[in-house]
Amino acid sequence: MIFTCPGSRILIGITMSERKVYIETYGCQMNVNDTEVIFSILAEAGYDRTENIEEADVIMANTCSVRDNAEQRIWGRIDQFYGQKRLREGVLTGIVGCMAERLKDKLLESGRVDFVAGPDSYRSLPAMLSRISPGHPQINVELSREETYSDIKPVRIDKNGVSAFISIMRGCNNVCSYCVVPYTRGAERSRDPRTIQMEACDLFSRGYKEVTLLGQNVDSYLWKGVDGHPDVDFADLLSSVAEISPELRVRFSTSHPKDISDKVIETMAKYPNICRHIHLPVQSGSDVMLEKMRRRYTREWYLGRVSKIREVMPDCAITTDIIAGFCGETLEDHQDTLSVMREVGYDYAYMFQYSERPGTLAAKHYPDDIPPAEKTRRLNEIIALQNELSLESNRRDVGKTFRVLVEGPSRRDPADSCGRASNNKMCVFPATVSGGTVKAGDYVDVRVVSCTSATLICERV
Ligand code: 5AD
Ligand code: SF4
Repeated sequence: MIFTCPGSRILIGITMSERKVYIETYGCQMNVNDTEVIFSILAEAGYDRTENIEEADVIMANTCSVRDNAEQRIWGRIDQFYGQKRLREGVLTGIVGCMAERLKDKLLESGRVDFVAGPDSYRSLPAMLSRISPGHPQINVELSREETYSDIKPVRIDKNGVSAFISIMRGCNNVCSYCVVPYTRGAERSRDPRTIQMEACDLFSRGYKEVTLLGQNVDSYLWKGVDGHPDVDFADLLSSVAEISPELRVRFSTSHPKDISDKVIETMAKYPNICRHIHLPVQSGSDVMLEKMRRRYTREWYLGRVSKIREVMPDCAITTDIIAGFCGETLEDHQDTLSVMREVGYDYAYMFQYSERPGTLAAKHYPDDIPPAEKTRRLNEIIALQNELSLESNRRDVGKTFRVLVEGPSRRDPADSCGRASNNKMCVFPATVSGGTVKAGDYVDVRVVSCTSATLICERV
């Protein structure tokens, strides 16, 4: 067939499906799921997915703006993409996602990209690609109050066909003072629960055994019932997905300490297939910092939520996010963070140095006054403590038995398999016992015999 390709090039004898798209994904799990949505939208428009940049007709990065170093890495990649353009005529390159939203025209002005698309404009990508011509790059960074891509069936890019992400909402209404997300992803909106259940059912019927429900703040999920139907909150949604099958594991992220309700905690306890893990970002252990961060809870409130979780589910892992060196953080505030970590005994943590993001409330109101070397020192102290806590947490599991969902061969030794326990800890165990070999997607029972700070080493039971 003959068609006009992006730009003014006329290509003869090339079928639509021969246009190949390559996407690099940066940042959070939400971005991974967005990439799957983009592949789905572009597949409908005749593009094939490729993992080889050198054969791609369209190259893009789905980007993250949450810290400056994430953005700096992407500027480096834009130069690499531009190299591909110069090698092969007709290649189109673009930036999508949070950095597209934040830097808009600046990206186009670089003269190195053909398109810039924000997180709510992926449906317009096929049209944008078809309109690009030399000197006429395309941009769409419109944010939406409604878009949830609820009708789009993401093209799964995971390698093992066992575990998949489902976005249940988009955006965030919280405006934590350090955070750029509300500006790049817009206002919070929840997705129709029926489409979430359908997506989970479809995944299960295709052999998936685990779904992770994603949102910036899942506890504020709310679908307003119409025509006499009741409202659906996050706990209701969790139950409905858990009820699809006891063989389907359900995870979720991220919980907000100010919003996680007793109903959610009790719902988790009711269903053994809702995994025993809550990611509950504390950010800081100091009330002064929490106030400045606009987190809208105190240390005491946070610890109260942890007690409730432990009271209802003593086996529930709790993980967190921590920011070191936020504006005006004193040594005492920093000590408060270390002490809250000890008090909770986190199983795992993601730890960051504060990175000022232009346009945020913190950037407008508070000087970024902790010297970089001091931020690094504090972060290293936090990391060292977390390594101890993770090891302690894993040691507490030695001797216990867990049901593990097999993900595949272990990276260290192919005679071993690996997979996660309900508490999200990575377990390694022999792939073969008495002639039977496990495969990805199987459930196996294991007993923990030893551990490192990162892994539980197990035998089969
Ligand atoms: N600087 C450092 N870390 C940040 N985070 C969000 N914004 C910033 C920032 N400006 C961290 C928070 C959040 C996680 C996703 O990223 O800990 O929970
Ligand atoms: Fe950012 Fe706070 Fe929203 Fe999380 S809850 S995305 S930290 S504004």
